Amino acid sequence: MLKIAIRSRKGGARADALVSFAAGATPKEALTALPAAVRAKAAAAAPAQPAAEGAVFTMPLGGAPAARLYVFGGGKSLEVSPRKARAILRTVVKTLNRSGERTAILDFPYSLKRMDAAETREFLLRALALSDYSFPVYKTKEREKNTLTSVSVTPSGAFAGASAAEARDAETLASVAAFVRDLGNTPSNDLVARDFAQWVSEEARARGLKPKVLDKKAIRRERMGGLLAVNRGSVEEPRVVVLEWKGGRKGDPPVAFVGKGVTFDSGGISLKPAEKMGDMKWDMMGAATAMGIVLAAADLKLPVNVVGIAALAENLPSGSAYKPGDIVRFRNGKTAEIDNTDAEGRVILADALDYAADWKPAAILDFATLTGAALVALGLEAAILFTDHDDLSRALVSAGERTDERIWRLPMWEEYRENIRSDWADMKNTGGRWGGSINGAMFLKEFVDPKTPWAHLDIAATANYDREYAGYPVGATSFGVGLALRWLRDRVAKAGAHSRRTSGARRKR
Ligand code: BES
Ligand code: MN
Ligand code: ZN
Repeated sequence: MLKIAIRSRKGGARADALVSFAAGATPKEALTALPAAVRAKAAAAAPAQPAAEGAVFTMPLGGAPAARLYVFGGGKSLEVSPRKARAILRTVVKTLNRSGERTAILDFPYSLKRMDAAETREFLLRALALSDYSFPVYKTKEREKNTLTSVSVTPSGAFAGASAAEARDAETLASVAAFVRDLGNTPSNDLVARDFAQWVSEEARARGLKPKVLDKKAIRRERMGGLLAVNRGSVEEPRVVVLEWKGGRKGDPPVAFVGKGVTFDSGGISLKPAEKMGDMKWDMMGAATAMGIVLAAADLKLPVNVVGIAALAENLPSGSAYKPGDIVRFRNGKTAEIDNTDAEGRVILADALDYAADWKPAAILDFATLTGAALVALGLEAAILFTDHDDLSRALVSAGERTDERIWRLPMWEEYRENIRSDWADMKNTGGRWGGSINGAMFLKEFVDPKTPWAHLDIAATANYDREYAGYPVGATSFGVGLALRWLRDRVAKAGAHSRRTSGARRKR
């Protein structure tokens, strides 16, 4: 992970590389986007089309403020989408690493769509800290070595007003995001439920949190029949991990984050086709996201109470596996007919959502790579939001717009309930071909008290990418962590404003 510093206005230590962008409608305009100190020199050396996207030109600067200047062709507009900004930063950092640079000064003239100045800084600092993320753990030979260790950003353009505290927060968030990605990218032979619980517990203890892990015996005692059923085909034991951060007032109800943690999803007896089955090592990203949110809330010492619940299992076919036609009894006493063992996420989340209610939460958010239909519905650009609470919907959509983790709402109308009607049990775990993501949400809805504000985020499309995409590296994205923290901080700010408005003492003064 990159270290980030904010350069003082007066200058500062010299660096190996000074990075800037030639962006503008004409070559002349593009060159005026460069920092004044190097503009004349760069103009003399510039190619005819300095703003051409993808073009890079470099030249020696002789030491002040850097040994070399890198000018990246920045396109026509100085306003870019967040994802483009993320991609630009990743390209820059890759280029510097390939060239063996160790330190850099970054000048970033763009503004970002949909984000105000503070959100822009937060987004860019975090994206920058994460821009060199890779997962070389299992590469024994061709390990790319990152030479670049630190970037110092010029406090102008998008970084105007940036503070050292903002840089520290970004590094904190980036390191949690990197942990969440590592969990996802680790193959399922090295990350079964026990491993997940152990890794997360270690991270939690390092922050002074007391993780609680339910083993198979405790899960039996809780009568989590769904979680046990899904895991029955595996020789590995299931786990439930509970993490709590109590930064709010004592006794204030927490916000609960629940995550689907299927460490590998073969489909079970309803076996998936071989093609792309390996992608199902990422079927625990919901659980990793829920854990990451609590870890980050603790790191940032957010003044809120939160609880994270990860439901962990492995979905495999075997002589002991659960089967189509089986009827499962959940923790809350309801029953479901298993129509397809590959619709396992909802079966484990049913118990986890009901378990979350024990905390009498102020709200519940669940994250799950629940349905392939989520990719069909919204493509790779957004996760699906399901909630019956309009205020919660607005707040979450807005948070996602401002962290570039976009979500889009689909309905959970009662009419869809008919899809999961069973002849034999309270419901069945599939709902036919149409509205696949909605049918999953309708199933989960059976396990949440309608009075509790609850949102289900189907992150199947955004949790991981099969190639480098939108400025994300191949593999896990950690989508959702930033959105949830933005939403939590919005809640804190709103509650603060509300208590100030209604405090009589203050009004009198
Ligand atoms: N983990 C999958 C969903 C998934 C598919 C995530 C592709 C990411 C990419 C989930 O457990 C699943 O298999 N869902 C089934 C449900 C169906 C059997 C009702 C699906 O989407 O096909
Ligand atoms: Mn499945
Ligand atoms: Zn699954």
